[in-house]
Amino acid sequence: MPTARKTLSEIVAEARSCERCPLFRNATQTVFGQGPVPAFIMLVGEQPGDSEDKAGLPFVGPAGRILDSAMLQAGMPRDHVYVTNAVKHFKNVPRGKRRIHQRPNRYEIERCRWWLDQELKLVNPRIVVAMGVTAASALAGRTVAISRERGRILSFGDHLQGVATIHPSYVLRLRDEARHRAFQGFIADLKRAGELVSDAVAAPARGTIR
Ligand code: URA
Repeated sequence: MPTARKTLSEIVAEARSCERCPLFRNATQTVFGQGPVPAFIMLVGEQPGDSEDKAGLPFVGPAGRILDSAMLQAGMPRDHVYVTNAVKHFKNVPRGKRRIHQRPNRYEIERCRWWLDQELKLVNPRIVVAMGVTAASALAGRTVAISRERGRILSFGDHLQGVATIHPSYVLRLRDEARHRAFQGFIADLKRAGELVSDAVAAPARGTIR
């Protein structure tokens, strides 16, 4: 079982040599979460992409730029939020000089839960924002339909509440008006998470966010 007493740096150091699933073989390094510990809000994505794999930091590539911009517009400073991924290695297949992103499977997500659980214990967020179906389903323990369930309060396990939203890379795949709409929806979901945290902090005796 993960222990609560380790510091984030100790866990990060352990995760560097993680071989809990085969994904380490094709990745440059383990990409752990980043941000303050504890933090009121934790954002969870799917897995590092090519840029993150090289930099060793989450959300620093194109999807990270969408995330940064949405967070700014939602009034959610990135340095106040812990940002991580459900899976800590970049799953990819080499094609020529490029590495093509592959979705992690259930086994890989389950094996990486070991690290996510330790982050959750340390960060102890009031709300978790799951970005995309991989993160939302990993946290909820069931398949989450983002289009239907986004913005609602979801149970991410005992005493852990969250909201699901789109993954920022979805915005990158769209053009023109559709892109604008998706981006605005993403900002709105982040704002909603911020409001839920403000409510919870203002009424701590209630215990849960309503
Ligand atoms: N996509 C993710 O889910 N996470 C990252 O860190 C980068 C891209």
